[in-house]
Amino acid sequence: MCGIVGYIGSKTASGILLEGLKRLEYRGYDSAGLAIINDGGLVIEKAVGRILNLEKKVGPIFGSATVGIAHTRWATHGAPTETNAHPHLDHSGKIALVHNGIIENYASLRKYLEAQGVGFESETDTEVLAKLIGHFYTGDNLEQAVRSALSEVQGTYGIAVICADQPDRIIAARKGSPLIVGIGKNEYIVASDASAIIEHTNQVIYLSDGEMAIVSREGFRTITLDAVPVTKDVQQVEWKLEQIELGGFEHFMLKEIFEQPESVRMCMRGRVNLREGTIHLGGIANYARELTRAHRFVFTACGTAWHAGLVGEYLFEDLARIPTETEYASEFRYRNPVLDDGTVICAISQSGETADTLAALREARDKGALGIGIVNTVGSTIARETDAGVYLHVGPEIGVASTKAFTGQVTVLAMLAAFLGRRKHLSPANFQNFICALDQIPGQIEKVLEQSGEIRRVAEKLAGRENWLYLGRGYNYPVALEGALKIKEISYVHAEGMPAAEMKHGPIALVNKGMPAVFIATHSSQYDKILGNIEEVKARGATTVAVITEGDSEICRQCDFCFTVPKTIEPLEPLLTIIPLQLLAYHVAVLRGCNIDKPRNLAKSVTVE
Ligand code: M6R
Repeated sequence: MCGIVGYIGSKTASGILLEGLKRLEYRGYDSAGLAIINDGGLVIEKAVGRILNLEKKVGPIFGSATVGIAHTRWATHGAPTETNAHPHLDHSGKIALVHNGIIENYASLRKYLEAQGVGFESETDTEVLAKLIGHFYTGDNLEQAVRSALSEVQGTYGIAVICADQPDRIIAARKGSPLIVGIGKNEYIVASDASAIIEHTNQVIYLSDGEMAIVSREGFRTITLDAVPVTKDVQQVEWKLEQIELGGFEHFMLKEIFEQPESVRMCMRGRVNLREGTIHLGGIANYARELTRAHRFVFTACGTAWHAGLVGEYLFEDLARIPTETEYASEFRYRNPVLDDGTVICAISQSGETADTLAALREARDKGALGIGIVNTVGSTIARETDAGVYLHVGPEIGVASTKAFTGQVTVLAMLAAFLGRRKHLSPANFQNFICALDQIPGQIEKVLEQSGEIRRVAEKLAGRENWLYLGRGYNYPVALEGALKIKEISYVHAEGMPAAEMKHGPIALVNKGMPAVFIATHSSQYDKILGNIEEVKARGATTVAVITEGDSEICRQCDFCFTVPKTIEPLEPLLTIIPLQLLAYHVAVLRGCNIDKPRNLAKSVTVE
């Protein structure tokens, strides 16, 4: 949520900042701005909307500066206007600040500053912090002024600050919002995530909460907010540039849907060993005993990751026979959950930065639970705050609508459930069957993807419909939820996902002629039941779409449209059945003219509660 980039070196800062903003645009995209230091003064430009609008306004005066900061915004306080866009300035106009996060006590700080005669232009919490830094600044103490201001602040921040009096440095600090320093050759890039950095260097340091970096052309220092020096390890980012580029696809979402055969393979690589009949998960190896002995698992997550957690709940109970619950992170943390030594809290998150998930994890660990993470972004806060964990290794996910992260999360949960199951009571033969089925999934996803053209033709018929139902049972109930989320977040149609049987308890009242009802109706244990549910909505005029198992002619005859998935074992079906639903959402959104990778009102990484 919001993207920050700062550059100091010998190259033209504005070019690198604008490129960095484009890479970070998926984090927020309602307005953007940048500030550089030129001839001893700050020069600022801002624009509403996409980075391209800002780029058009950046004139030659930006050309010679070699230090600057920039920001792409997802509005929290105040509408997306130029005035509210970052950077914000202190009262003297010498200090510029970009900020990601929320200053919770901004109203009282603003009142205090106004009483001192400080005026404000914007409605933002960020401007309050900029003015507060200026309030403490006496002309030669920028670092001290930033520390003093941050000590007054409640809330979360990732910030980058420049000052016209000290054009040789950027000051960066974080609490709750990610911040990375990329280390190049006599150049440094501060950014909210690695996508703005990897074009220039793959060497980075990750700031931790309560840390600050003072970055110059010659190097950087890291300290705590109390000015105690901190030594940081330089780490290597594994992402490749091509992973964050479109590579011939029209949208990142489509690219990432099509990457899934490979991303699921990557997720299993070096972990599932068919020949030896083992699953090796290095990230949890030291905790294998505690995990096997746990008497309860709690998965906590938001959005798509929560849906993956629901699949995980079924997998864990089925394969590992461990009582498991899946909790919305935002609810879990505030309801005083009962947790003890034998409970394992498992935070699932693509970004590893989702504020609610992080808070739930912290709450549970404070209460004595062992915390593990299922995270995609290496080095992210959740990854660093867990006792152990398993990375997805599906590569960077840029599209706001999560796709390959979901299949990666389910794959990790399947491996983890089978791993624990085998250590408890799963027989070698059943375990081997399971991993053989898992091994076939990437090739099977490839087969499902071949139907993209057919799915597009169905989308053409249905794209105008405003209300959709998604229905599934058992392992495919979370898939129904995820299918509905996909279509609503990128197509802006109303969609509800639910267990197919629940429909009769109220939602069936919504069904009218032509309403698309999408069933996940594979040939599995609840097949007959779902056939009945299909009849129920057909009788009320719904247009029926079904995801079925290859070769099932019976449902094919009954439904208006069908997409097929190859036969797999029931616990792994979500890895296949979600694919047509991702494609359906994608094609409907394209046909409705929606902005696929940057859906309205959304941002990729939700770092505010
Ligand atoms: O980064 P996370 O996995 O923690 O994000 C959680 C949700 O915000 C995310 O899955 C969201 O629901 C997606 N936009 C759904 O496509």
